[in-house]
Amino acid sequence: MKNQTITVRPLSAHTGAEITGVDLAQPLSDQTYLEIRETFNQWGAIFFRDQDITPTQQLEFARRFGNVTPDDYASNLPLVDGYEELKEIVRKPDDPRNVGGFWHMDKCFMPDPDMASLLYAKELPPYGGDTMFAHLGAAFDALSPGLQATLETLSTVLIKSRAYGDGGTPAPGVTAEGYAEALEKFAGIEATHPAVARHPETGRKVLFVGPVYSDRFAGWTREESLPLLDYLSGILTRPEHTCRFRWEEGSLAMWDNRAVAHYALDDYPGHRRSMHRVTIQGPWLEPTSAAA
Ligand code: SIN
Repeated sequence: MKNQTITVRPLSAHTGAEITGVDLAQPLSDQTYLEIRETFNQWGAIFFRDQDITPTQQLEFARRFGNVTPDDYASNLPLVDGYEELKEIVRKPDDPRNVGGFWHMDKCFMPDPDMASLLYAKELPPYGGDTMFAHLGAAFDALSPGLQATLETLSTVLIKSRAYGDGGTPAPGVTAEGYAEALEKFAGIEATHPAVARHPETGRKVLFVGPVYSDRFAGWTREESLPLLDYLSGILTRPEHTCRFRWEEGSLAMWDNRAVAHYALDDYPGHRRSMHRVTIQGPWLEPTSAAA
């Protein structure tokens, strides 16, 4: 009997847990919802397998957690036909690169990023295409008290177009024209967030620094910022701070953009992968001190 009690199986010490005993095509009781929400808060990324759900059921599940967000900025993601709030994350066999093939938190370059993202597998390649997650709280905990205290005084500037290139050099898989277009199309899409913030539901401090979108610390130059940003990215993505999710038909993943960064592996050239993504608004990270 589904939707009575959930079973939770962690994937690693810091992040990722598979939940069984849930049928997302059926309405969830308040108790089951609360247990899922607690697991989501604890692990930052949760996974369900063998789900057979429609786009409407995916949206209904997402709405238990908060308002789902329409495509409210100039993203390149196509919408699923007939659904304003459902985006298709697709890599076609001849695409030069996938979507999200680098460590990031969704929409971290916006002033009000989405709390969570919910991805449902529609078409999978015969191999590869896993998604990795890294815990921002584990990264913060791994730093020395001295560096933690310094970072609590800093903010980071995160820039959307960084995903397409840096300092005039296009990112791998991006042409010079594609980079120029992105610079024009995404001009001004950026935000400043505290480098360390408190998770509003767990109270845990997290390191909100993404390797690609983080351009610099506010008030610092890019050149000054890069060594420290690179160091922090290395801590965040230490294998022990991550988990890796292997998708199967019917898999659904939900992650907390306030607690984890994620990385969609691009290791299935010549094959197609298609997912449906919903993003959810909710209470955002809180500053911990007077960040610059
Ligand atoms: C994303 O970055 O939101 C996409 C993740 C994935 O396709 O696995």
